[in-house]
Amino acid sequence: MACRHRSSTTTLARLAKPARLTPRLSTQPQVQSQVASAVRCFSSSRPRQLKETRCQQGKFTSETYPELKRDPRYGQVTKEHVDYFKGLLGTESAVIDGVTNENATDDIEPFNSDWMRKYRGHCRLVLKPSSTEEVSKILKYCNDNKLAVVPQGGNTGLVGGSVPVFDEIVLNMGRMNNIIEFDEVSGILTVEAGAILEVVDQFLASKGYIFPLDLGAKGSCHIGGNLSTNAGGLRLLRYGSLHGTTLGIEAVLPDGTVVDDLCKLRKNNTGYDIKQLFIGSEGTIGVITKAVIQCPQRPKAQNVALFGLESYEAAQQAFREAKGHLSEILSAFELMDAGSQALVRQVTKKNSPLEGEYPFYCLIETSGSNSDHDGEKLQTFLEDVMEKGIVVDGTLAQDETQVKALWSWREGITEALGHLGGVYKYDVSIPLPEMYQLVEDTKARVEEAGLLGDTDEHPVRAVVGYGHMGDSNLHLNVSTRRFDERVEKVLEPFVYEWISKRQGSISAEHGLGLAKKKYIGYSRTPTMVGLMKQLKDLYDPNAILNPYKYI
Ligand code: FAD
Ligand code: MLT
Ligand code: ZN
Repeated sequence: MACRHRSSTTTLARLAKPARLTPRLSTQPQVQSQVASAVRCFSSSRPRQLKETRCQQGKFTSETYPELKRDPRYGQVTKEHVDYFKGLLGTESAVIDGVTNENATDDIEPFNSDWMRKYRGHCRLVLKPSSTEEVSKILKYCNDNKLAVVPQGGNTGLVGGSVPVFDEIVLNMGRMNNIIEFDEVSGILTVEAGAILEVVDQFLASKGYIFPLDLGAKGSCHIGGNLSTNAGGLRLLRYGSLHGTTLGIEAVLPDGTVVDDLCKLRKNNTGYDIKQLFIGSEGTIGVITKAVIQCPQRPKAQNVALFGLESYEAAQQAFREAKGHLSEILSAFELMDAGSQALVRQVTKKNSPLEGEYPFYCLIETSGSNSDHDGEKLQTFLEDVMEKGIVVDGTLAQDETQVKALWSWREGITEALGHLGGVYKYDVSIPLPEMYQLVEDTKARVEEAGLLGDTDEHPVRAVVGYGHMGDSNLHLNVSTRRFDERVEKVLEPFVYEWISKRQGSISAEHGLGLAKKKYIGYSRTPTMVGLMKQLKDLYDPNAILNPYKYI
């Protein structure tokens, strides 16, 4: 990895105006790293490692929400069904059978429990197909026998969509993980749904390309899961939504029909764009088996800076300035509040990259092709926001290690929260001027209810906010010592009503899953929900796919 160190002298002289800023920046000369490979190589085992230390799996979803009842339309999985699947899939490892083998419970548990340890199902059969044809035969059989199925990718979803509620069969896509084709001229990638995002991105890095999505769970989540949730992530600001970068999809409908729309064209206006329905449908109308993605050129130069700010108003001003100064090279603009950073410090025991503590922090990333050009632009931006007093303190990464270290203060929040106990997560879109007010109002409400405190009798440890400010996407998180229904009652529907009043969205990027199924009306009109139900009935008339969720 080549690193070109810029002289710090010029930078310091020019940035020296606001006294409070100078000492901090003087210790971290501005440096531009030439980045040709993955700059944020998070370990592929990272999300899973912390699983071991996160809160113990507790109640079944059916106990937490007793109003949920198993739908009697669905058949029970029998030995005969299991024999069919074993005959179809052949290898031992493709079928985890807890129906005829009571000792398989431990092997099935990871497929029954979600990443947050909030949702837990009663599944007794996990199937792992290795081809589209196998997916098709499994679904046809399940449809004929009215067996309910939960499609599952890397199981990193945060809304309870990827695990069963009752005894649904888990259809895990992990064995369909091949990179099928990559065109080095156009950057068009064809990949199987079960491929892990980080693995795909590393492959693309070796070709000078990048996957147009990046997120903290990249070491575990699958491309199929990303498409099914329409994941947004850290660089949507730059590369846009998967609705734009996905050129083609192959999916299997509940009756076994294979929908082959593996189009490799950027332009194709022949009729309805059916593939868009599978993006963000969370496994409710079909199982995605392959995808064609338009991948951008990997940026050659990448810079990351972390700033401390005194107010949310200042964070908004910084965002506006960043767009003005950095426009085409700005690739991420992320917000973190003091509470979220305190939790990361508490869990990682690391010192903050800034000396002081601030109410808000912003992380900015630039990605471009010309180091000198990008460096000058960033420098001018920094001078400007410091001179105007918008940014109080800041640090710039000077090599790849520092780039990763700065990003870890943003990406590490989710894991830190998970590590500390239960967390109630609200992933929402709100017009920027009011975005952070939701955190303050929620905190006040939880305090008023007497649920927030430093001692064990208080279920809530902290109410924090962070997120993709560049996309008006806030992550409101209520960190608890344990899941507690009193907390949920105080938060819901309060949070959704608050968002609805401001014409926000109750799900910005994580989806609806089980968590938000009953609240969809806060963001969608009855007409829209009615159309969605019609689509569901059309594609999945027996409702075998991902029941109890979405709509
Ligand atoms: P799963 O969790 O297995 O499944 C998610 C949903 O998709 C389920 O409803 C499932 O039934 C369905 N599904 C999965 N595969 C298929 C398929 N092949 N066909 C049909 N349906 C399928 N999300 C963001 O949007 N942005 C972030 O920045 C972000 N950061 C995260 C950071 C961490 C640490 C964690 C744990 C999660 C984060 N997430 C984020 C949430 C999650 O990683 C994404 O939703 C991801 O896209 C889910 O992919 P997965 O393979 O794990 O899918
Ligand atoms: C993130 O942006 O970090 C993810 O969406 C996960 C989360 O909301 O915690
Ligand atoms: Zn996010």
